[in-house]
This record gives sequence, C-alpha cells and structure tokens, in this order.
Amino acid sequence: MPLDSPQAFPAQLSRFPPTRYMGSKEKLLGPIWDLASTVPHDSLLDLFSGSGAVAYLFKTQGKAVVANDYMAMARTVARATLVNNRVTLSDADLDRLLSDHPHPDGFVARHFAGLYFGDAENRRIDHVRAQITGLECADKWALAMAALIRACMKKRPRGIFTYTGRRYDDGRRDLRLSLEAQLREQAALLNDAVFDNGRAHRVLCADAMQVMTQAELVYIDPPYFSPLSDNEYVRRYHFLEGLARDWRGVEMQWHTKTRKFRSYPTPFSTRAGACAAFERLFRRHRESAILVSYASNAQPTKEELLALLKRHKRHVELVEVDHRYSFATQGERAGAIKNGVREYLFLGR
Ligand SMILES: C[S@@+](CC[C@H](N)C(=O)[O-])C[C@H]1O[C@@H](n2cnc3c(N)ncnc32)[C@H](O)[C@@H]1O
Repeated sequence: MPLDSPQAFPAQLSRFPPTRYMGSKEKLLGPIWDLASTVPHDSLLDLFSGSGAVAYLFKTQGKAVVANDYMAMARTVARATLVNNRVTLSDADLDRLLSDHPHPDGFVARHFAGLYFGDAENRRIDHVRAQITGLECADKWALAMAALIRACMKKRPRGIFTYTGRRYDDGRRDLRLSLEAQLREQAALLNDAVFDNGRAHRVLCADAMQVMTQAELVYIDPPYFSPLSDNEYVRRYHFLEGLARDWRGVEMQWHTKTRKFRSYPTPFSTRAGACAAFERLFRRHRESAILVSYASNAQPTKEELLALLKRHKRHVELVEVDHRYSFATQGERAGAIKNGVREYLFLGR
C-alpha cells in the first residue's frame, strides 16, 4: 500500500487529529497496517503509544486495543480517542470550560510567567484546568484535557518546551489563534475522532518493562537511542505532561530556566539499556506476533535488532520504508542528520 493512500483505510482513520508528537508514526500507518494485516490477530498491545495514532489505526480496523505509554499526556489522548467510544464535549461543556472559575489555583500563572505564553493566556489555562477538575465523567475529563494539551502544543512555536520565549514564532495560523479558539478547534477535532468499533479498549500508563498484559499482536515503538541526539520526551513536553498530571508526582527542577521536571527513567536512554530492554520485551511477548518500528539512525543497529528478534521468533520479516520525519524527531543537536531517515518495520511471528 503506498504511503500516501489514506483512502485505502476506513474513513474514520482520517478523523484522528493530526499531531507533531516526536516519533509519531502517523505517516507510516500504511506500511504498518500492510505488514500487521499479514498476521491473523484480534487484539493489539501498543506498548509505547505516544500520539495514539497507531492504537487508533487498529481501532478503525476493528481490533481490541490496549495502549500503554509512561507519559500521562499519552494516556489522556488514548483515553479520549481509543477507550472513549461515544462521549463528546457539547457546546455547553466548552462554554463552561472557557468561563472563569471562582478558585483557580494560579499554578501556571505563578510558575510559568514569561516563559511560554502571555500572562492572560496563563491565567486562562489555570481557569480551564480548574474547570476540567470539576468534570465528573472520565471521558469528558480526557477529552477536555486532551483539547487543552493540544491547544497549548499548537500555540507553542515548534510545539516543544525545551526553550523559553517565542524565538521560532513564524506567524503561522496556529500561533495567531487565541487559546480559546484553539481549544474549541481541538475539542471539535477530538469529538470527531470519537467512534465505537464494538470492542472494549484499555489504556495503561506504565513503564513498558513492567507491563504483563498480553495480546495477539504486540507493537513496539520505543524512543530510538542515538549518540547524536537525545530522545527525551519529558524534556520536550514537560509543560503538557504537567497539565495532564497536574504536576503531581513529578520531581520539579525549579532551578531550570524552562521549569521542567526530572525525566522518567527508561532503558532506551543508553545503547546497552536499549539492547537489554529489547531482549526482555521480545522474550516476554514471544507467544505473540511482534511488530517493531525502528530507524536507520538508531542503535543497536538494524542487524543487531534483527538478531535479537530471531532469538525468539522463527520467522522474521524486515520492511524498509523511506520516511520523512517531522523536524522535531531529529532533536536540536542532531543537525548533522538531515531528515532522510530510513524507517524499518520488523515482524516476528
Ligand atoms: C517513538 S514514541 C512512540 C510513538 C507512537 N508510536 C506514535 O505513533 O505516536 C516513543 C514513546 O515511548 C514512550 N516511552 C519511553 N520510554 C518508555 C517506557 N520505559 N515505558 C513506556 N513508555 C515509554 C515515550 O513517552 C514516547 O511516547
């Protein structure tokens, strides 16, 4: 299936809100489905769900899906678009979300003044956070929080929080739209993505190394380790992750200019850690078909990964896809790597 043939998919797939999340496989859904559909399966475990695009693809294909990611922002989006089969936000819900709350805690206005957004926007974010807290329906909570996260991402030049100020502001529409307009737009997009495939889905927010859930097909798309670029999700998205978990349970690094918090530990931050983690995941899920996304600029190398997978799977297939990443995937220090990265898909059965 050619990469650019979304018409080959159920129309519902085009309703997944586009994302600039680092490493999103949104543009690779064609090859992923092409390969995945060669193994019979009824259920999918997406161990590193990120933007939620792959989990959503399998939902549109009628599968029962479990999505996991250790980022609370990923859990929020998956709750809103995967687990949620029918709830949407009404105009009245949105009016309420965008109205002043009597007791906002002022956390964003106080701690992020002058960093990412203007004072009025920070105050509005605090009001919306407070209004979201009052939502009793978990699906509405997830939709509203996902809309706020997406609105803040859209309003941020480059969609990341690794720098302060607005030095990359190129005047694009997303940056010019008010926060309120962005929130309404994102809520409408998320509403549109809600549908029921007749199956029950689950979302987890755990270290993938601890997830014992099984499924007939397991999709593994961890951060790619490279000595040339960092692959830290918390460093890029700490503000959005902070929104999703209300800055609870994180280790704030108040001395940093960006007011980030400590990254969550992951074995994929070193070469040796990544090798050992792949080995453990392949062993644990050896009774399932295993689909792995990988890239040519990552370590261990493609050959090493192939050898690791072959230890546990009798038949291993490798598909190479040319893939132009969105800029954020390269990391700021990876200037040497231009965006012609080869993407690999491994299928072990
Ligand atoms: C390459 S991205 C996944 C992208 C996803 N397939 C998509 O299409 O958007 C890697 C994800 O792994 C998550 N992650 C990193 N280490 C993890 C760990 N130990 N356990 C669970 N998730 C982890 C990150 O938060 C990030 O969302």
